[in-house]
Amino acid sequence: MIGTKGKVVAVNGNMVSVRFNGAVSMNEVGYVKVADKRLKSEVIRIRGEISQLQVFEITKGISVGDSVEFTGEMLAVELGPGLLGKVYDGLQNPLPELAKAAGHFLERGVYLDPLEKNQEWEFTPVAKAGDKVERADTLGTVPEGAFTHRIMVPFGLLGTYTVVKIKKAGKYKLKDTIAELKDSKGKIYPVKMSFVWPVKRAVDCYEERLKPEEPMVTRVRLVDTFFPVARGGTYCIPGPFGAGKTVLQQITSRFADVDIVIVAACGERAGEVVETLKEFPELKDERTGRSLMERTIIICNTSSMPVAAREASVYTAVTLAEYYRQMGLDVLLLADSTSRWAQAMREMSGRLEEIPGEEAFPAYLESTIASFYERAGIVRLKDGAIGSVTIGGTVSPAGGNFEEPVTQATLKVVGAFHGLSRERSDARKFPAIHPMDSWSKYKGIIEAEKVAYAHNFMRRGFEVEQMMKVVGEEGTSIEDYVIYLKGELIDSVYFQQNSFDEVDAAVKPERQIYTFLKLLNILASKFTFPDKNEARIWFNRLRQKFLDYNGSKWQDTRFKQLEKDIEDAVKSQSKGIDKTAEKFLA
Ligand SMILES: Nc1ncnc2c1ncn2[C@@H]1O[C@H](COP(=O)(O)OP(=O)(O)OP(=O)(O)O)[C@@H](O)[C@H]1O
Ligand SMILES: [Mg+2]
Repeated sequence: MIGTKGKVVAVNGNMVSVRFNGAVSMNEVGYVKVADKRLKSEVIRIRGEISQLQVFEITKGISVGDSVEFTGEMLAVELGPGLLGKVYDGLQNPLPELAKAAGHFLERGVYLDPLEKNQEWEFTPVAKAGDKVERADTLGTVPEGAFTHRIMVPFGLLGTYTVVKIKKAGKYKLKDTIAELKDSKGKIYPVKMSFVWPVKRAVDCYEERLKPEEPMVTRVRLVDTFFPVARGGTYCIPGPFGAGKTVLQQITSRFADVDIVIVAACGERAGEVVETLKEFPELKDERTGRSLMERTIIICNTSSMPVAAREASVYTAVTLAEYYRQMGLDVLLLADSTSRWAQAMREMSGRLEEIPGEEAFPAYLESTIASFYERAGIVRLKDGAIGSVTIGGTVSPAGGNFEEPVTQATLKVVGAFHGLSRERSDARKFPAIHPMDSWSKYKGIIEAEKVAYAHNFMRRGFEVEQMMKVVGEEGTSIEDYVIYLKGELIDSVYFQQNSFDEVDAAVKPERQIYTFLKLLNILASKFTFPDKNEARIWFNRLRQKFLDYNGSKWQDTRFKQLEKDIEDAVKSQSKGIDKTAEKFLA
């Protein structure tokens, strides 16, 4: 029921308890009135005639007796053309506009239209009068940047409708009615180019969910070759403070092979967010030659904003992702960092005095994290088009301890795990994804047996390295020492990638496949050296050549020359190929 009213009976941090009369439902939005402001809040518990609301704003000044208005509506986002390129806070307030209207970054109680109501869009009808339609069916299209944005039957309209009227091709504003639909009882529903959808409900207007199988190429070698992410799949990047989670996500957001990227920066440092905001519009998208921002949406809640807003930003982001998936597009959602969201959950749970689980996180931490990642997926739409949402979330475990509840809960649901290592980031080995701790259940761009062969060398290399720390180099056999050097070689020329090098920063799959084979050939070659010193010198020289090779333009003369140098060096030193590798090197 709309219009339920209440009064604040208690304030506890960002949670207020409200006595209400009438009907109130879970996740309903209410506004707490304080002075001349209305602070947006969400119902998170109802007990008899008392409900608890989490306030998305700083609660300063709220006192017992203040009035509360319930809206009868769930926390929702507006979906329609014009979302791309926007920077929003967790409540879908456009930030630049907000800054303009409020004078500074954020002023509480100011809520703006997420989409510009007066902007005109070039509408082309697809449906015609008399057509029978259901939710998510395409009524028409408008061009949005490089994409064809489908104007769909609002997802909340259940059942079958008849198109009574539809506008002819032309320019319309978001506030214009572009179609009229009639239900079986003859009731008319005017449809505009945008509509709202509750953020906590997954959009499920598709025919079927498919198995995520095709790799979503990120152009990060360690990811695509060793720990791949599938289109429509999920992955997590846990890493200690400063290990490179944010940088890795930024690289991914630029180069991943998807149509649209949604970045949810929840609870990151304000400075970092401002930096992203400044940097992104200047970055070029090499696929389109246009600003990267034109296919990006940024949702940001800095750590200085109230915790409840972090939660909202995660849900807002995934809902926008699902919306574009309904247009047959591939969307990548990057959430940084989900730990801050989990901390917000912990704080609220504490205020609700719920029985705490491990490390005081709520008992429902796992199921909440699981249901967030479950919103990823590759789907077949009713018209046969395929769309996907891939979700990658960073986790920042205290002290870099992956045993903590948020990392563990995330691990249980994701398909790939890119664990960042303090040791590697301290040694400036970037990306600092740990090649031993990380894993993926997805198929990558290179056959599994080849990858396993290389991975095995790396593992043995690590083992020799550990052993050498104990027995010293003198106590290590030359054979083991060569294995160690081979392991080192993979690490420095394949795992590590120089994000500041124009060529090496992002490597296309065909080049990864090509150079990986070159590397395999080296690994499988039987080398003999008179002593360790000679071996080290030879490998050092080879490594340097390989790094130059990595930095040279694909297939240009320098690339070919360096490749020949490498091959000649290997040929003159090799005493044959390891038997097990023969079949895939042939
Ligand atoms: N791929 C990379 N190449 C070069 N330098 C990097 C790379 N990744 C990270 N760094 C360096 O490490 C620093 C910290 O990285 P980043 O901010 O991504 O860490 P983080 O894990 O997000 O930290 P926090 O836990 O504080 O959010 C960067 O400022 C940069 O100097
Ligand atoms: Mg970070």
